[in-house]
Amino acid sequence: MLRRLHPEQPDSFAFTPENRKWAEAQLTKYPEGRQASAVIPLLWRAQEQEGWLTRPAIEYVADMLGMAYIRVLEVATFYFMFQLSPVGSVAHVQVCGTTSCLICGAEDLISVCKEKIAPEPHMLSADGRFSWEEVECLGACSNAPMIQVGKDYYEDLTAESLGAILDTLARGEVPVPGPQNGRFASEPKGGLSSLADGEKANAHNASVARALAVGDGIKRIDGTEVPLLTPWQGAGAAAEDVKTDGS
Ligand code: FES
Repeated sequence: MLRRLHPEQPDSFAFTPENRKWAEAQLTKYPEGRQASAVIPLLWRAQEQEGWLTRPAIEYVADMLGMAYIRVLEVATFYFMFQLSPVGSVAHVQVCGTTSCLICGAEDLISVCKEKIAPEPHMLSADGRFSWEEVECLGACSNAPMIQVGKDYYEDLTAESLGAILDTLARGEVPVPGPQNGRFASEPKGGLSSLADGEKANAHNASVARALAVGDGIKRIDGTEVPLLTPWQGAGAAAEDVKTDGS
């Protein structure tokens, strides 16, 4: 598929102050002169901040890394994880359409997206709040069929449960991610067949518990969500002395 920049672009892009600190801290993970290695994480953070990857964002990241615009554009257009057109302001729904999910009902989920969001992938809903696309395997095959919304996986879905998730999001709430059929994780649906005596210490599996604790599943990331983790710079270092021009 040919991937091009969207014809309508904003005039400018800048990281929020906290995202800028985060981005500068990432550069310290690489040897001097190799800061271009941070291109994917920085593009990803730009997308997390804006929802999609704009031309000004691509150029901003290129300037930070001392890279030619065309080199960063090549990365942005190569990887499908980068959204090159606007996505829904509330949620962009990624439906896995690979083997396990397809066998278990992904086509039903896509029908729900067509009906409730928009008839075509990468098309905004009438109110601009939702969009959807079909993606390749997201690595949750034992919980098929599934979708990703923001950072979170919603698994063991049916057309009904996906419809309910979209309705919840439309009300401005974030549904609890993870399996939607009562499973804790990816154990047999009929219950554990071994180690069955142990009681679950937690109400949710680790990834759902983490999602609920941070609560940034569909948030536009501004860098304030979690602490900056670059301990070699000292606690809370702002990385003001990091060289960012790539020279
Ligand atoms: S096939 Fe859907 S998550 Fe792997």
